[in-house]
Amino acid sequence: MRVAMLTGGGDCPGLNAVMRAVARKAERIFEDELVGFQDGWRGVIEDVVRPLSVDAYRGTLPRGGTILGSSRTNPFKVDGGVDACKRTLEREKIDALIAIGGEDTLGVAHKLSELGMHVVGVPKTIDNDLSATELTFGFDTAVQIATEAIDRLHTTAESHHRVMVVEVMGRHAGHIAVWSGIAGGATMILIPEEPFDIDHVAESLKRRHEQHGRFASIIVVAEGATPKEGTMKLVSKEIDEFGHVRLGGIGQTLAEEIESHTGYETRVTILGHVQRGGTPTAFDRVLATRFGVAAIDAVHAEAWGTMVALQCGKIVRVPMSDAVGRLKTVDADIYHGVAEYFFAG
Ligand code: F6P
Repeated sequence: MRVAMLTGGGDCPGLNAVMRAVARKAERIFEDELVGFQDGWRGVIEDVVRPLSVDAYRGTLPRGGTILGSSRTNPFKVDGGVDACKRTLEREKIDALIAIGGEDTLGVAHKLSELGMHVVGVPKTIDNDLSATELTFGFDTAVQIATEAIDRLHTTAESHHRVMVVEVMGRHAGHIAVWSGIAGGATMILIPEEPFDIDHVAESLKRRHEQHGRFASIIVVAEGATPKEGTMKLVSKEIDEFGHVRLGGIGQTLAEEIESHTGYETRVTILGHVQRGGTPTAFDRVLATRFGVAAIDAVHAEAWGTMVALQCGKIVRVPMSDAVGRLKTVDADIYHGVAEYFFAG
């Protein structure tokens, strides 16, 4: 078979590990011919393709990013984009396409497969907000990086008796904030799923500092966290082709509000793309490798329109529609039962 791969959306540690696994099994077991589209769906629209092989992926297992490049191009938002994709796949004689991406990339893959294209999906996102899989690769790495940052911020916060606001990624879901906040012993964790009340945040901090004799606090805030309606003003931002607002900035606003409500000196650290860059953890390398092997198996099973997923520790195939229909948000049990329990104590 002639099999193509692409990586779309935000990059993520483990993308190369997925493709390396696909390449090994495709070339050595199935004797496939492998190619890659450059920069996500843009490469399919513009027919920018390159040959791939086991050799192309040598040394890439520990390497972050994607050697194929990525973009947030959406063929359904580009004039003639879908027809261009169809033409490219025919012209390049592609028998199957493995799309590695998050909700947006797989949303496109799902629609194209409904139009009859031979597509299989692999779930990717540091945000871990994709449904139908318990975990996506990249999440563990992001949590590890954020936790290390929080550990470091504790000592400087204590030395200066400050409040530290740490902004982590998580546009629609607070998985990174909750996991790194629990692991790093944060005082408070604010996530998109639970709009916060700035007065409550300030009162909890005051109680902790005045009644419990603590003089330093760490607040982890997901970039998509929002105040309860009408309680705090936010600046509006640019919108991308998938309709997402470019986030980043809640941490700064929150720090200013905390300082003015409590009088405590407050600093902000925005971790940003540091959470996405660099080498994947061992866990993510293994998960990515398992996904890669399962993806090429799905191609040879002609399981078009499916996505490989992790469920109860096993790699399974699920309809892509299950993954893209709705986002996987933070389980209320872990937020209210564990994360919130430690709030401001
Ligand atoms: O891919 C997910 C993500 O890392 C989000 O957590 C974040 O909001 C977004 O990507 C940032 O996107 P960009 O790299 O386009 O700034």
